[in-house]
Amino acid sequence: MRKKKIIIGNWKMNPVTKKDAEKLFSIVAKNVSNIKRTEVVIAPPFVYLEKLKKISKKIILGAQNAGSEEMGAFTGEVSSVMLSGLDVKYVILGHSERREMGETNGSINRKIKVALSANLSPVLCVGEKHRDENHEYFNLVKTQITECLAGVPKNLFSKIIIAYEPVWAISSTVNRHDATSHDSLEMSIFIRKVLSILSSPEIASGMRILYGGSVSERDAGDFLMNGGVDGLLVGRASLTAQKFIDIVNICEALKN
Ligand code: PGA
Repeated sequence: MRKKKIIIGNWKMNPVTKKDAEKLFSIVAKNVSNIKRTEVVIAPPFVYLEKLKKISKKIILGAQNAGSEEMGAFTGEVSSVMLSGLDVKYVILGHSERREMGETNGSINRKIKVALSANLSPVLCVGEKHRDENHEYFNLVKTQITECLAGVPKNLFSKIIIAYEPVWAISSTVNRHDATSHDSLEMSIFIRKVLSILSSPEIASGMRILYGGSVSERDAGDFLMNGGVDGLLVGRASLTAQKFIDIVNICEALKN
């Protein structure tokens, strides 16, 4: 059975004050209270989680990263177990901005396993920096998925979400350009095929694949209807309450 569509707001390192975080979260919460068919997730900076979880139960909390161990001498890290204790359900892992800071498929793989054992659902980000004429980027995405999910038991695959985020389309990328829903469709079909080889066609067909990269209220409908995806990972547009609410409403209004 296909799961609900999902819209995830990735606030990154924003907003800069707790007051602004509460305000943004509260406005979104108020306006999505009647949403039934779409899961609405916000992944704020860690420091706001405790406060935001008290504002609304309607919005599900996500985190933007988690450590690769459960506990111990890892200065500056926050573990999946700790996040789980804060009612966090999803954790974004392997985001391109974190890969840029040195994360590898191997370290992401460890994080995914620890997150799963803490009962969190990993949102694994994959995507190429550039497209090449020989379509090598398909192989790169395949390697990212295969290495990041190595050794993960098949029965846990359904807890994992794959977010395809071509780095060249992310809003903060210098000289970025738009991805189309066709780019997303092609890659989502390919990703589902990779997942079905790693698990089984049944398991893969029940998994959610998202698109992310400069999604706005203007193109969200196109990606959702024509991009072959089960939801969106939204960065910049999730920092403007009305834009994020519009994207959630667009998703909610879709036929299935
Ligand atoms: P963007 O970010 O929507 O600002 O491009 C998406 C992401 O990086 O998760």
